Amino acid sequence: MLLFLLLILQTSAAVGQIDPGHCRFPLGMEDGRVKDKDITASSKWYETTGPQFARLNREDGDGAWCPEGQLQHSDTQYLQVDLSVLTFLTLVGTQGRYARGLGKEFARAYRLNYSRDGLTWKAWKNRQGNTVIEGNKNTYAIVYKELHPSIIARYVRLIPVTELSSTVCMRVELYGCPWHDGLISYSAPEGQLMMPPGYPPASLNDSIYDGTHERRPLFGGLGQLTDGVVGMDDFLLTHEKQVWSGYDYLGWRNDSQGTQGHVEMEFVFDRQRNFTSMKVHSNNLFTRGVKIFSSVSCWFKPRLIANWEQEAVTFRTVLDDRNPSARYVTVPLNQRTAKALRCRFYFADVWMMFSEISFQSGENLHPDLKTSTQGIIPTTPLITTAAQPAPSANDPTEETNTPILIGCLVTIILLLVVIIFLILWCQCVCKVLEKAPRRILDEEVTIRLSSCSDTIIMQTPPVPPRTGHAPTACGGGYAEPDVTQCTPHQSFHSNAPHYAETDIIRLQGVTGSNMYAVPALTVDSLTRKDISAAEFPRQQLIFREKLGEGQFGEVHLCEAEGLPEFLGEGSPLPDRDSRPVLVAVKQLRADATLQARNDFLKEIKIMSRLDDPNIIRLLCVCVSSDPLCMVTEYMENGDLNMFLSQREIESTLTHANSIPSVSLCDLLHMAVQISSGMKYLASLNFVHRDLATRNCLVDRRLTIKIADFGMSRNLYSSDYYRIQGRAVLPIRWMAWESILLGKFTTASDVWAFGVTLWEIFTLCKEQPYSLLSDEQVIENTGEFFRNQGRQIFLYSPPLCPPSLFELMMRCWSRNITDRPTFDGIYQTLRRHVRA
Ligand SMILES: *[C@@H]1O[C@H](CO)[C@@H](O)[C@H](O)[C@H]1NC(C)=O
Ligand SMILES: *[C@@H]1O[C@H](CO)[C@@H](O)[C@H](O)[C@H]1NC(C)=O
Ligand SMILES: *[C@@H]1O[C@H](CO)[C@@H](O)[C@H](O)[C@H]1NC(C)=O
Ligand SMILES: *[C@@H]1O[C@H](CO)[C@@H](O)[C@H](O)[C@H]1NC(C)=O
Repeated sequence: MLLFLLLILQTSAAVGQIDPGHCRFPLGMEDGRVKDKDITASSKWYETTGPQFARLNREDGDGAWCPEGQLQHSDTQYLQVDLSVLTFLTLVGTQGRYARGLGKEFARAYRLNYSRDGLTWKAWKNRQGNTVIEGNKNTYAIVYKELHPSIIARYVRLIPVTELSSTVCMRVELYGCPWHDGLISYSAPEGQLMMPPGYPPASLNDSIYDGTHERRPLFGGLGQLTDGVVGMDDFLLTHEKQVWSGYDYLGWRNDSQGTQGHVEMEFVFDRQRNFTSMKVHSNNLFTRGVKIFSSVSCWFKPRLIANWEQEAVTFRTVLDDRNPSARYVTVPLNQRTAKALRCRFYFADVWMMFSEISFQSGENLHPDLKTSTQGIIPTTPLITTAAQPAPSANDPTEETNTPILIGCLVTIILLLVVIIFLILWCQCVCKVLEKAPRRILDEEVTIRLSSCSDTIIMQTPPVPPRTGHAPTACGGGYAEPDVTQCTPHQSFHSNAPHYAETDIIRLQGVTGSNMYAVPALTVDSLTRKDISAAEFPRQQLIFREKLGEGQFGEVHLCEAEGLPEFLGEGSPLPDRDSRPVLVAVKQLRADATLQARNDFLKEIKIMSRLDDPNIIRLLCVCVSSDPLCMVTEYMENGDLNMFLSQREIESTLTHANSIPSVSLCDLLHMAVQISSGMKYLASLNFVHRDLATRNCLVDRRLTIKIADFGMSRNLYSSDYYRIQGRAVLPIRWMAWESILLGKFTTASDVWAFGVTLWEIFTLCKEQPYSLLSDEQVIENTGEFFRNQGRQIFLYSPPLCPPSLFELMMRCWSRNITDRPTFDGIYQTLRRHVRA
């Protein structure tokens, strides 16, 4: 129950700062909120392919915008959209000219230019510096591209790019949310290079800054401080893959040139605003010489051409030598009116590092709902305060604040009282859930896109299922999973923690459910007899690539030298044709808590006893010294989600182009193998808790093994629902009782299996419930609980045989006893393969 309330609280909490994960509202190309006059172009071929027809999913005119003539490689033709307000853009969707089947033109690639004032144009670059975005492959499918980094702009130009001379046509939609901060540029000294001993150098520069580096180091642009990505506690770690350490932060050293004990920054806004506060997300890893600023003074200017006003606002922080977490420091700006601000941040230590700065001014406390996208965005001012990182009791930076904060605290306390009252009420009458809001069905469902990767392809119109390719065509060539090894092991009981994620375990503990009953293993009590895996020499692991990271550790892809010899006879490794053996190495961070360490050792202990052809195997460990590592199999085709999303269903058509394909029969075989692996886990009363295609690995012969790295991978972060920025839940795969009651059982794994099956038969082209926001998914869970026929089920994928969809639906039964067992599922699926 508390979990449920927590979820609701957090739901509305993303208001204060922009969260790119939630800022994905369509901005009005398709539904007409962007007016025809605001869509222009460098040229058009005919009146009927003018810019006003460049609206996604619409078939007006001749079905799209087409620039004049054949486009050459060197040409720059563009479509320009004026969004009429400053907007935070996170996603672009493009489509070709379908024209009810007559169209043939689409843009295979394009570039983006944007502008905040309509005068200076900037070219968008991704984090690796590439400007060209991959576009459409046919005339009807929408291709969505995430903008990493996101853009703050009012005007956007889409510039189609071609290799060969050809005709192109485009329809587009832009996604994002209003930029209430109103900041149009900041200037600052360029960030510096840090050489931490024993680590690679950390480049604390502003690499995505879109201003100039000419007149002053950073001038006239926005960048790292407004990209919506908050840095981690350890500034050497980053959220993005393939960037350097220190990427998320802009940082300065106190004694370098240009910084004499302070750093001066200027901020320019779109118009005069009454400023309430400024929030500076600042690192505080004092063990490496980084602290939040000791004080800040800000000066104000009512117009750009004016003198700075004499009177400054000065704010002293209370320094914190106990908690090394990065945090938002809120600086009150006393309702001063200005169009530009100049702030001087004073050093408290050798280094000062910021990852985000946001401003709260008169208007954005009460945003005008008419200008925001139809008021979709939750705007309860009460909840706004909860958006600040939980101000722990010993976090003095937040204490020295004005009456506003006191007011907020009072409201929070009142809120807590209300919550406690609600809980008591619920225990007596248990009516609260019955009254949970029913917005989903009573109102129009607002479409929000969430992707399972950077690109999602939605078929409009859907490609009809291939007839004549029934699962009957299944030939041999597959190794049938060997199920004779499923001998129950006495040491497993349903209290065993999920072997991956310590966060969830903790969460369960908080909600008071049954999950925390495992006696804590201490490091000393771990003896060799607990671990049946052998100790591998650490220096023989050669780092190849980072697969992901979680709060307490990282997963690396490594080559393991001499591993087959090390494992000797009966080694489970596949034939490798003298290629290096790839393994996944999960490594605990050196500064992990004791709790995390114990969980990690427990995980090793449990994994070393799992032995099934469809479960990833623990090969060896490195636990004789820190950092602790476990080495598991890795499979060359990567995870099933990646694997399927890059494929199409086999047909005579696909032979013509180069997209690799899979057959329906392959899909069925995958499902059989997953059910077989889950059957094994279930026979040990072992609850996986995070079954999904992203957690299944595939090898060359399409053998599937169930693993559990999903949660630690940035790539799939949108599949998880974040609580307080830390704990994450795969809500789209979770049974109602797991979300509402925190109950995880084999039956909830069965539910997740149903969703996984659905993913397989949509070829992972879409996230489950992709039209529902996270909040709506949780609301839908309430409907599953009430079971009054208002719940929304996943649709039947076009490829899926009806009997299989029936199986999925049984997996999503409200009553646990109505759900099939894994044994039953396995038998049913096997019958399909044989049929
Ligand atoms: C796009 O931006 C770049 C960089 O500012 C500029 O050189 C180019 O001319 C722009 N192109 C268009 C079509 O605006
Ligand atoms: C920032 O630092 C990185 C790594 O040292 C470097 O590759 C990049 O070019 C720098 N960016 C800018 C804008 O100076
Ligand atoms: C800002 O606040 C002052 C007084 O509180 C008020 O007179 C002024 O109109 C406000 N300015 C804006 C731009 O809202
Ligand atoms: C600046 O750094 C030096 C060491 O380089 C240190 O001794 C000094 O105290 C720092 N200044 C402040 C204000 O922290």
